[in-house]
Amino acid sequence: MKKLIEALKSSSCTVAMTGAGISTLCGIPDFRGPQGLYKQPDAERIFDIDWFDRDPSIYYRGTRELVYGMRKFKPGPVHLALKHLEDLGILDGIITQNIDMLHQKAGSSNVWEVHGSGLLHHCRRCGSRKTFDEICAMLDAGTEVPRCKCGGAYKPDITFFGEALPEQAFAASQELAIRAKTLLVLGTSLTVYPAAGLPRLTLQAGGKVFIVNGQPTALDDLAAARYDDLQTFADAVLAM
Ligand code: OAD
Repeated sequence: MKKLIEALKSSSCTVAMTGAGISTLCGIPDFRGPQGLYKQPDAERIFDIDWFDRDPSIYYRGTRELVYGMRKFKPGPVHLALKHLEDLGILDGIITQNIDMLHQKAGSSNVWEVHGSGLLHHCRRCGSRKTFDEICAMLDAGTEVPRCKCGGAYKPDITFFGEALPEQAFAASQELAIRAKTLLVLGTSLTVYPAAGLPRLTLQAGGKVFIVNGQPTALDDLAAARYDDLQTFADAVLAM
C-alpha cells in the first residue's frame, strides 16, 4: 500500500468512490461477491421498479435484513478510515453506491449517494412521504407492505433498476470525479452504470485511480495500482 499512501499524502484533491464491498466488513452482504445477494434466485427482482409496481412484497421480503436490518449495523474499518482521511484534511468527498447510510454514521460529511437511500420513502400513488423510522415501525408491527392511506405502496428513495439516478447527487459526483487528482475506488465491482463510469472521468481529466477490490474490475488495467484487501487498506490509512 506504500504507493497509495504516498499518493494520498501528496494529492491536492482526493475522492473516494465506495461500493457494497466495504460494508461486508460490517456483516452486510454485497451483491456480486462470492456470498452476494444476487446469488439467490430471483434476487434481481428485488430492486426492479417494474417488479415493485407489480408486487412490492418482493422488495419488502428481500430487504427485511438488508435495508431495514441496517439499524443494527455499525460503520466498519473502511468507513472509519475515510472519516480519518477527512479529519486529516486529505479527503474532499465520498461518492457512494451504498444505501446503508454508514458513511454518515461514521461522521463523514461530504457524502453523495448516487443510488439514493431509504432515509425517505414515497407513496407510489399520491407521493406522500414517510421516514425510514416510520417505515421500520410499520414493519416491526407486522405490516408486510407499508401502504399509504390512499392504498399506494411506499417505495424507498433507493434507485431501482429502471429508474434514473438522483440528479443532484449524480451531478455532484461527476464534478468530484473530474476534480479528483486521486480517486480511491473501494469495494465495487464497477458493473452498474452510469455510476461505474465515474472513474473514467477522473482518468480523462488526468487524475489517478487506485482500486481496492477482491475481484477484478474492468478498470484494473488503467489503475495506478490495485489491491485486493479492504481491511489492509483501512489499517494502512488508519495508521497515517
Ligand atoms: P458488488 O456486489 O457488485 O461489488 C462488491 C465488490 O466488493 C465485489 O467485487 C467483491 O469482490 C468486493 N468485496 C467484497 N468484500 C470485500 C473485501 N472484504 N475486500 C475486498 N473486496 C471485497 O457491489 P456494488 O459494486 O456496490 O444498486 O454494486 C453496484 C450496485 O449494484 C449497488 O449499488 C446496488 C446493486 O444493484 C442498488 O442498490 C440500487
